[in-house]
Amino acid sequence: MTKRLYIETVGCQMNVLDSEMVVASLRRDGYELTSDIELADTILFNTCSVREQSENKTYSALGRLKDAKTKNPHKIIGVLGCMAQKDQRLIFERAPFVDLVVGPGQLKQVPELIAQSQAGAGQQLAVSLQRTGGSSDVVKRSHETFDPLRDPTMRPTPFQAFLRIQIGCDKFCTYCVVPMTRGPEQGREPAQLIEEAKILADQGCLEITLLGQTVNSYRYRHGDGRSTNLAELLHQLHEIEGIRRLKFVTNYPKDMTAELLTAVRDLPKVSPYLHVPAQSGSNEVLKRMKRGYTVEDYREMMDRIREHLPHPSLASDFIVGFSGETEEDFQKTIELVEECRFKNSFIFKYSERTGTKAANLLPDDVPYPVKQRRNNELLEVQNRISEEENHRFLGATVEVLVEGPSKAAVKREESGETTVTGDSPLQLTGRTPCDRIVVFEGNLRQVGQIMPVAIYDVSAFTLHGAVVTEHVGPHSLALLT
Ligand code: 5AD
Ligand code: SF4
Repeated sequence: MTKRLYIETVGCQMNVLDSEMVVASLRRDGYELTSDIELADTILFNTCSVREQSENKTYSALGRLKDAKTKNPHKIIGVLGCMAQKDQRLIFERAPFVDLVVGPGQLKQVPELIAQSQAGAGQQLAVSLQRTGGSSDVVKRSHETFDPLRDPTMRPTPFQAFLRIQIGCDKFCTYCVVPMTRGPEQGREPAQLIEEAKILADQGCLEITLLGQTVNSYRYRHGDGRSTNLAELLHQLHEIEGIRRLKFVTNYPKDMTAELLTAVRDLPKVSPYLHVPAQSGSNEVLKRMKRGYTVEDYREMMDRIREHLPHPSLASDFIVGFSGETEEDFQKTIELVEECRFKNSFIFKYSERTGTKAANLLPDDVPYPVKQRRNNELLEVQNRISEEENHRFLGATVEVLVEGPSKAAVKREESGETTVTGDSPLQLTGRTPCDRIVVFEGNLRQVGQIMPVAIYDVSAFTLHGAVVTEHVGPHSLALLT
């Protein structure tokens, strides 16, 4: 009998990829995916611990399952990912009907754990990376590499895939829970990555996004003493036939080397999209965050990027309301955003995480309404810049990887307002190599193709255009990525 799996994923792209692996392994066990939680025999939540809000969401979702479990005790409910690593005991306390708690380093064991749980009804199982114990209670190195298992149906689209090149993080920023949930940084072996990328290309993937918490710190030390860094890895991946685009996220400012930027410049398949979180524009705050660089270092890095790349597309993350952040500190963040002119920034209100250095040593002393106001203010500045930056695309032709119908088109079809066949005109969406979203009129046959689109209107988040058969301007495609 077919078993039905419902899986909900929150958090970063690493989690999206982890869920893809889990689904692939469960399909081998005869599972099929369902989007109806009521019909599922197994319900899994792949969780995030970066901010309290995501954890609360998971606890609410779990709370709603209590009755379902009472009615049908054979349903298996599992919590995977960062919360599972961090709060094993707490999850069982707050949701005693949960059967499985599996940390991100042990996801390979999910099928076996589900089977065990089914066999020993009522038995609760928890697996996570071991901790070293003692004063620095950190997660031990994991030797599992789960990645070769893939499930194309779980990808953002059939022609776009994530490829994890690095596990964990060694930076220990004081606010961040990631080194505790995903363990120390480990680069995956280049030969294995090339093999995996070739499989993805054979499956029709045009775009691969390399993932790592600090992806540009990637390094693999071979047995003979040689080592491979991200620039070298990009050169190797660039050779693979069929792959048209390569991206990498997320970067760490100190490791944005000239060698890497040269590779981005010289390898046409590599996107000039660089997401390099600054977190704050104040040296005082950066020091308390233990980010390992000053605002001056960050500015220098920006200069280096602009020296190498004619049209970089830059993005950042910022945390507002971190411990001790004054109005003056916050103004410095605004200044940095004004100066760097990011394509977009992800802005977060500081959320104290148990077990981090900041939670142990620094007070969470910026009141919530102040965090909220600073968040809105910074967002407003960023949105204005995003729109201004998009203006340079007016009249230009960009190269778009067509992802599918736009959100509005999907809504219209779902409501029965339209019926779409291969040829009927509909609003499509896709992305430029620099990660800008483009909306234009086309048809379903164009999905999965790379097409030139001339831009006639822009907003802060979207470029609007029309497919052209001939490129406008001599170098517009090459220049305006
Ligand atoms: N509170 C708020 N934001 C956080 N981030 C990481 N930890 C926290 C926290 N405790 C943000 C950082 C990081 C992004 C993924 O999440 O900006 O770059
Ligand atoms: Fe967290 Fe800092 Fe590592 Fe990013 S670099 S995952 S913010 S510890």
